[in-house]
Amino acid sequence: MGLGFFGSVLVLTLFFRPLVSQQPNTDGFFVSDFLQNMGLNSSTAYNFSTPVCSWQGVFCDAKQENVIGLSASGLGLSGLIPDTTIGKLRNLQSLDLSNNKITGLPSDFWSLGSLKTLNLSYNQISGNLPSNIGNFGLLESLDLSCNNFSWNIPEALSSLVSLQVLKLNQNGYESSIPMGILNCHSLVSIDLSSNNLAGTLPDGFGAAFPKLKSLNLAGNEITGRDSDFSGMISVVYLNISGNQFQGPVIDVFQESLEVIDLSQNQFQGHISKVNFSSTFNWSHLAYLDLSENQLSGEFFNNLNQAQNLKHLNLAHNRFSKQQFPQISMLSGLEYLNLSETNLIGHIPIEISLLSNLRTLDLSKNHLTSHIPLLSIKNLQEFDVSYNNLSGEIPLSLIEKLPWMERFNFSYNNLTLCASDFTPETLRSAFIGSSNSCPIAANPGLFKRKASKHRGLKLALALTLSMVCLLAGLLFLAFGCRRKTRMWVVKQNSYKEEQNVSGPFSFQTDSTTWVADVKHATSVPVVIFEKPLLNFTFADLLSATSHFDRGTLLAEGRFGPVYRGFLLGGIHVAVKVLVHGSTMTDQEAARELEYLGRIKHPNLVPLTGYCLAGEQRIAIYDYMENGNLQNLLHDLPLGVQTTEDWSTDTWEEDDNNGIQNVRSEGLFTTWRFRHKVALGTARAFAYLHHGCSPPIIHRDVKASSVYLDSNLEPRLSDFGLAKIFGHGLVDEIARGSPGYVPPEFLQPETGSPRAPTPKSDVYGFGIILFELITGKKPIGDDYPEKKEATLVSWVRGLVRKNQGSRAIDPKIHGTGPEIQMEEALKIGYLCTADLPSKRPSMQQVVGLLKDIEPVTQL
Ligand SMILES: *[C@@H]1O[C@H](CO)[C@@H](O)[C@H](O)[C@H]1NC(C)=O
Ligand SMILES: *[C@@H]1O[C@H](CO)[C@@H](O)[C@H](O)[C@H]1NC(C)=O
Ligand SMILES: *[C@@H]1O[C@H](CO)[C@@H](O)[C@H](O)[C@H]1NC(C)=O
Ligand SMILES: *[C@@H]1O[C@H](CO)[C@@H](O)[C@H](O)[C@H]1NC(C)=O
Ligand SMILES: *[C@@H]1O[C@H](CO)[C@@H](O)[C@H](O)[C@H]1NC(C)=O
Ligand SMILES: *[C@@H]1O[C@H](CO)[C@@H](O)[C@H](O)[C@H]1NC(C)=O
Ligand SMILES: *[C@@H]1O[C@H](CO)[C@@H](O)[C@H](O)[C@H]1NC(C)=O
Ligand SMILES: *[C@@H]1O[C@H](CO)[C@@H](O)[C@H](O)[C@H]1NC(C)=O
Ligand SMILES: *[C@@H]1O[C@H](CO)[C@@H](O)[C@H](O)[C@H]1NC(C)=O
Ligand SMILES: *[C@@H]1O[C@H](CO)[C@@H](O)[C@H](O)[C@H]1NC(C)=O
Ligand SMILES: *[C@@H]1O[C@H](CO)[C@@H](O)[C@H](O)[C@H]1NC(C)=O
Repeated sequence: MGLGFFGSVLVLTLFFRPLVSQQPNTDGFFVSDFLQNMGLNSSTAYNFSTPVCSWQGVFCDAKQENVIGLSASGLGLSGLIPDTTIGKLRNLQSLDLSNNKITGLPSDFWSLGSLKTLNLSYNQISGNLPSNIGNFGLLESLDLSCNNFSWNIPEALSSLVSLQVLKLNQNGYESSIPMGILNCHSLVSIDLSSNNLAGTLPDGFGAAFPKLKSLNLAGNEITGRDSDFSGMISVVYLNISGNQFQGPVIDVFQESLEVIDLSQNQFQGHISKVNFSSTFNWSHLAYLDLSENQLSGEFFNNLNQAQNLKHLNLAHNRFSKQQFPQISMLSGLEYLNLSETNLIGHIPIEISLLSNLRTLDLSKNHLTSHIPLLSIKNLQEFDVSYNNLSGEIPLSLIEKLPWMERFNFSYNNLTLCASDFTPETLRSAFIGSSNSCPIAANPGLFKRKASKHRGLKLALALTLSMVCLLAGLLFLAFGCRRKTRMWVVKQNSYKEEQNVSGPFSFQTDSTTWVADVKHATSVPVVIFEKPLLNFTFADLLSATSHFDRGTLLAEGRFGPVYRGFLLGGIHVAVKVLVHGSTMTDQEAARELEYLGRIKHPNLVPLTGYCLAGEQRIAIYDYMENGNLQNLLHDLPLGVQTTEDWSTDTWEEDDNNGIQNVRSEGLFTTWRFRHKVALGTARAFAYLHHGCSPPIIHRDVKASSVYLDSNLEPRLSDFGLAKIFGHGLVDEIARGSPGYVPPEFLQPETGSPRAPTPKSDVYGFGIILFELITGKKPIGDDYPEKKEATLVSWVRGLVRKNQGSRAIDPKIHGTGPEIQMEEALKIGYLCTADLPSKRPSMQQVVGLLKDIEPVTQL
């Protein structure tokens, strides 16, 4: 018999020389038989004439005799596996037949008692998994996912005591999870999701698996309670989404969890009252989904401890009316879904701190007020539909929309400009919105009569003296002696001033201006946001210590600018437009009302105004951190120029925030300079493209760009030129020295050119050069002595591709030089001689965003 066997070997060897064929009843024979029977064509990977151990996906033991591993994933194998093929590989420890079209297993399959890993996922095997699976006592990993197994999961699982990975997901398993599974103490990962499993979990399930890290039961019909999971000490990932679990969720929060998905169950109860296990560490939590349950009360207040949270979904529960939760600490959040959670009040501005936010769904709540500024960098999905939001959509968000995957603003009370959106977008994402563009004026507002409410007035006066005291203390603290004295004295005389009669005359170094009014108390001051406070010119008098020179911030071409505190702590800059105007009172008021409604995070808001005789007085929010002129060109600390800066108005000014900006060194970083450039560009883009008709600034210069208390750049003085009417247009149009575009310097025709958006673009280009070079537009020390202006010097260098030589040494090394050079090129484009060659401000915003320095958190 032995001889016969060798004889046939000899015959075969002779016949197929030089091919080495597979001898019958060897592992090579069984494997080649298997592959060929399952429809595998001969291919370069499988030359069945070569030794089996050389085939792709075949692993042999050390002696190169026995196949111990076979991986035949994704080879298009199809049909039933025949007997006497792989079922005969006695030493097989690892079998991967995933991703084929196998429909059934042979009866000798269950004799593969050495198997440690078995992967049959992504096939078409149907029917019952026989109890024979219990034969695989050494099995460590069993993956039968994505097949068509049905009926019960066999109790025989109890024999698989070494099993670490069990994946039976996406099959048709029914009935309940077998008790037998409790024997598999070694399990690290269980995935039974997307079956039709019902019933309850076996008793003691939570505590049965001391090494379990991942448990996925999602998408079944399992019933039970949160307490079923108590005892899980090592689980990191828990997904029981889409079942019928009940209870107050509390017991699910086990100490080691990082990912918790309890969505689409029947959890109920007041979660704000829940006492979480003292061992639960919120700072480990990365993912929490409690959506589509029946939770009530308010959100739990531990939320802010979850500093590593990336995904939070609390949508669609039965929460009671509540304010937006505290989220300022959740800076890593990428997904926030608070849809249908009964939110009231406003969206907090802290939301802008969530710079990783990708998805924000606040739909179906009762949120009011406006949409705050968002960090739009990563934003892809945004839904605020079905709320009560009003006001305008932040421009930065509008600019981002075309690049977002999904957005929905429907059913709110937002003010929008149809021209910003395509008709299709308006129809799908702005359903139920009214289009109120251009911003309407409300002439009724400025026709107000002087106050008749004596009682209120008295109360105001009392409150005011308190405010004065506070203000006085503030000034003392800042060490501003002369002004402090003035301030306190003047404030104390408020009541006398109330009855003071005009006309009033005021003097500054360069001008005298007159407010020709009879009674200071009969001239209303309109403060847009506080229409119920009946301020009058008398209040302005006291706010500015009777327009005292000590409160003078600057004197510019429009006239003097004073600083003051209005009642209620409103810190304002009061700008008197002394040079008169050709507009009637009504026209000027309408124009100022219009300007007051133009809101953008990068514009200095017009707070209100007053028409005092011939004088038009514009009242602005006070900007804490000075302007670019101050910051860039090294004026003494604390000096603020609002416009053209004249020497003796600042001597005794207090130290305002400028010092902070400087000392923190923030202003000498490329990141900050870029932020200022981009914010300023956004302001211009909004004036030119977001307003109808477009607003041309006409007087662009560094001293028109302020930094607010958050160090956001804000452009001021927009629209003022128009208030002057035609009288001064020519002078204004000429702009400030160093910022005047060439088309105004060489008028080809007799009459000077009218300003256009492109003349603003030129001015912006100069500001950009100032930001990058740190040099003044004219009269500075430019290394190439022959160059008289900043623009000719920088343009010369850019043209020679030597832009890097112009970069401010102070910001050198604080960012990629290539970005700074690119920025100079943008400035180069903006300062093109021909207006038509300059980009639009919208394009400039895009160009600047392309070179945005990466934000690090
Ligand atoms: C095998 O070859 C036949 C005919 O050449 C072809 O139709 C079939 O798709 C091939 N099968 C595989 C899995 O490559
Ligand atoms: C298979 O291997 C044999 C022996 O190495 C070789 O002669 C033959 O050309 C190979 N066949 C293919 C199709 O590569
Ligand atoms: C089984 O194979 C599939 C597809 O090749 C793979 O994605 C999966 O990770 C494997 N399962 C295990 C437990 O390794
Ligand atoms: C899965 O099995 C059920 C019966 O158990 C059968 O009705 C169904 O057609 C099968 N589906 C597929 C895709 O094979
Ligand atoms: C939980 O399972 C469901 C259903 O399979 C899935 O949609 C969801 O993404 C899973 N959750 C997590 C956190 O993986
Ligand atoms: C939560 O704990 C506090 C103090 O430990 C206790 O007063 C309160 O009754 C507990 N609440 C619940 C619902 O157990
Ligand atoms: C929570 O985990 C963090 C990080 O692992 C650790 O620093 C902190 O001490 C833990 N807090 C508690 C209460 O265990
Ligand atoms: C927010 O959660 C709800 C409820 O689960 C869901 O319907 C909605 O699609 C989610 N929104 C986003 C943007 O994922
Ligand atoms: C929106 O606000 C109006 C007026 O305050 C109120 O009548 C209305 O009920 C609110 N709508 C929603 C959906 O909260
Ligand atoms: C919408 O907002 C306007 C003011 O912007 C307000 O007059 C009006 O009542 C609001 N409508 C609703 C339904 O809240
Ligand atoms: C926005 O929400 C409304 C109301 O739910 C819906 O009808 C509309 O299809 C949604 N549009 C988009 C673009 O998601």
